[in-house]
Amino acid sequence: MKALGIDIGGTGIKGAVVDTKRGRLLTDRLRLLTPKPATPDAVSTVLAECVKHFDWDGPIGCTFPGVVKGGMVHTAANLDDAWVGLHAAELFTKATGRPVTVVNDADAAGEAEARFGAAHGEPGLVIALTLGTGIGSALVVDGRLVPNTELGHLPLRGDGAEKWAANSVRERDELSWEDWAARVSEYLVMLEDLFWPDLFILGGGVSKKAEHFVPLLTCRTEVVPAELLNQAGIVGAALAVHRHVDKHGDEGQALPSTKKKHHHHKH
Ligand code: BGC
Repeated sequence: MKALGIDIGGTGIKGAVVDTKRGRLLTDRLRLLTPKPATPDAVSTVLAECVKHFDWDGPIGCTFPGVVKGGMVHTAANLDDAWVGLHAAELFTKATGRPVTVVNDADAAGEAEARFGAAHGEPGLVIALTLGTGIGSALVVDGRLVPNTELGHLPLRGDGAEKWAANSVRERDELSWEDWAARVSEYLVMLEDLFWPDLFILGGGVSKKAEHFVPLLTCRTEVVPAELLNQAGIVGAALAVHRHVDKHGDEGQALPSTKKKHHHHKH
């Protein structure tokens, strides 16, 4: 099974054709700049360009950095406000002429890690976080995703946690690894006091530099960097194409492996 996975981020829009059975990229990664401002029309144009580049006529899975339910965008904290209330799946389907499924970016990355990466076969509760422009979260319980958690917006130090501990804040304020790790630790301790997870996975571009900060973290829960690094979003986007659509039309969760044969989707 193959799908084109496209990861929409604050600075880049990245795409590749993905083998969704193995979670591997089948092509090089194409990286295009996110248009400024990132209006729905401008982003749709870049998406169409990406599809054309790969000469792709199959299904497309796409991430979005906000709450997405049933293809509809509900929040866009770090992107243009014009997205809120927009049916992104419809818009992208029109722009590309191919069926497009849209899911939250952190959920996509978390799902990819659950299937093929650091959370593979991990029992219990895994919290996968993306530390980027904002902070995204994916809750994975015994391999099954609980979609659209927004733990990056939990209040911390008087504002949403992502305003204190995101990687963009480290870069903007030129924080040392020590200072930033202290902030991330404070955030992780809050999360573990509330959720008591069995494992944290830290993703986002900065996971490539995990050796600089992961050893400095002081929470009690085990922390590992994302294994798929900057490919998690693309792989997770492609996986979304096979997601079960529940009775509310939400492209919510991956099917537990025991039920797979009853709900097999062919693409
Ligand atoms: C958004 C999340 C998103 C995260 C990472 C947050 O500001 O609310 O939906 O997953 O940023 O992009």
